[in-house]
Amino acid sequence: MQRDSTLVRRLGIEHPIIQAPMAGGANTVDLVAAVCRAGALGFLGCAYSSPDVIRETAAAVRARTERPFGLNLFAPQQILDASGDAGRMVGALKDVHAELSIAPPSLPAASELVFADQLRAVLDTEASVFSFTFGLLPSGAVDELRARGLFVIGTATTVDEAIALDAAGVDAIVSQGSEAGAHRGTFGPSFEAAMIGTMALVPQIVDAVSVPVIASGGIMDGRGVAAALALGAEAAQLGTAFLTCDEAGIPAAYKQAIIDAREDQTRVTRAFSGRPARGIVNRLMADIDADADAILPFPLQNALTRPARTAAATQDRAEFLSLWAGQGVRLSRRLPAEELVKEIVWETATALDRAGWHKSASAPAPPTAPDS
Ligand SMILES: Cc1cc2nc3c(=O)[nH]c(=O)nc-3n(C[C@H](O)[C@H](O)[C@H](O)COP(=O)(O)O)c2cc1C
Repeated sequence: MQRDSTLVRRLGIEHPIIQAPMAGGANTVDLVAAVCRAGALGFLGCAYSSPDVIRETAAAVRARTERPFGLNLFAPQQILDASGDAGRMVGALKDVHAELSIAPPSLPAASELVFADQLRAVLDTEASVFSFTFGLLPSGAVDELRARGLFVIGTATTVDEAIALDAAGVDAIVSQGSEAGAHRGTFGPSFEAAMIGTMALVPQIVDAVSVPVIASGGIMDGRGVAAALALGAEAAQLGTAFLTCDEAGIPAAYKQAIIDAREDQTRVTRAFSGRPARGIVNRLMADIDADADAILPFPLQNALTRPARTAAATQDRAEFLSLWAGQGVRLSRRLPAEELVKEIVWETATALDRAGWHKSASAPAPPTAPDS
């Protein structure tokens, strides 16, 4: 299946399937190693990891598999002047902290993670792919990554963003449709205007750029992968589909919430992190969104809500977690990751076969230009 696609060949994998990087603990070493073993590309989302943790986790993956794997970071963010109302936000979280029996909320210090240090750690690892989201990389970074032999992938939510990434010299582009789980990768002027579905976004990006495109957003099974390939993508990147795998490092209550969710139960919110992201609606999201003007910019809001989310994970309380998930939730299945990849590969082949017009005697001839 698509073994001869340029992208699949250059990534050194067997199938056009990528397990999305998912910062925050979902992509464990076990998950990444299992996905790689199955012939797909496993990814570690390292945006919230210190340089030491990035080096250690990548080494742990390498100890488990000889196969290619990827690392992912958030492009450096312009720290926005504090908008929102810190006092009101802290106040809004008081009752939640009390319910979780943790110390009252307080305004956190800015994160100590420095992108340049994280990138240096990435360069020290044996990963063969690097992807990023939320923008463009600082000047020189793409060249440095490529010089070290890494295949570099950027993330776009509009055609303009894809063109900017292409001009910046990336090797491939993830087209992130509005169905996608978790943070929007948008770095253009408007998040609202960049809510474009995968079906519309992929072919428009394919037509506009010179590098391979990876479809992402709402793809949960082989029908989705086959559709992505038909739209001109050379691979599909799936996040939510891997969250309910046995090896995914999220709380049991989060996995159950995904299994139980319907396609109309997610929404894009700034409640948890300050940046628009798609998740299953729950009590904490609804409470914070009720006073949306008080929400702080990313990453301050993320740091402020983290103690509650961490405690909720320990206590397995879905109502206070950020339940990131895409609109394909109803198609989730609980499986070991290797089995999931195998099923998706089989489904993709079946879907492509079923759609195989080229084999039918009644296949239409290519259109010719009308007589003038
Ligand atoms: C829990 C979760 C965390 C994510 N974290 C990252 C991340 O750290 N970096 C990134 O580039 N994309 C991240 N994404 C977005 C994925 O790369 C991808 O665009 C998305 O999962 C595709 O939509 P789907 O969830 O419907 O498959 C995350 C997605 C999820 C569900």
